[in-house]
Amino acid sequence: MMKKNKIFVACDTSNLNQIKKIIKYTRTNQLKIIPKFGLQFFYSKSGRKFLENFKSEFFLDVKLNDIPQTALSAMDSLKDLKKLRYITVHASGGLDMLKTVTKKAKKINKNIKVLGVTVLTSLNNKSLKRIGHTKSVEKLVMHQVNLLKKSGAAGCICSAKEAGIIRKKFKNFYIVTPGIRLPGDKSDDQARIMTPREAFKNKVSAIVMGRSLVKKNIKNNVKKLIDHLNQ
Ligand code: C5P
Repeated sequence: MMKKNKIFVACDTSNLNQIKKIIKYTRTNQLKIIPKFGLQFFYSKSGRKFLENFKSEFFLDVKLNDIPQTALSAMDSLKDLKKLRYITVHASGGLDMLKTVTKKAKKINKNIKVLGVTVLTSLNNKSLKRIGHTKSVEKLVMHQVNLLKKSGAAGCICSAKEAGIIRKKFKNFYIVTPGIRLPGDKSDDQARIMTPREAFKNKVSAIVMGRSLVKKNIKNNVKKLIDHLNQ
């Protein structure tokens, strides 16, 4: 059962050597671990070059959010990244933008999954209210998931707490959940967290793990994760 569990490791650093270290030490034949690169690396001098030549599939977490034409052009500018397989776009950017990006991504490569970011896992009901939303986290996530479905996007980014209700409604939706912590680990800036086991129980398609995997001894953390999933 474990090999089926897909894990994206968040390579959250602009330091190329550190990136290489994360990739090397998270390599295991017991789990499917795919690197996820975020803004800090993609914006860095060596980041984009590194990804141009990257030889295995990766996730680019750039969270596009702009008017349709700009988002479309941004997607087009990524077409030379041959191994790009997952990309994020904010659901709050609206239906037209989501449709435009999804269509463009399909044209570039049918294997690219466009994933819509719903409510960030660092937010809770109180922080949503502050932004001006009147819906609860769960209601807003579901609302945005319906919008994503309509746009043709392959899936969404949400917390594992919402995954259960989404899966109930959509059997074939690619649900990816950050905000994952091994038991006992600090939540840091995340507000809606779950353990890897709890997340997979909620039928997520894949989880994102950053600090729980890459802090201190990476190999040791991977071993802890394998043990945790085997329990
Ligand atoms: O270290 P940690 O496991 O909290 O890292 C979570 C990763 O997932 C970060 O790279 C963060 O940018 C990303 N992410 C998130 N919440 C979202 C979308 C992406 O935490 N809604």
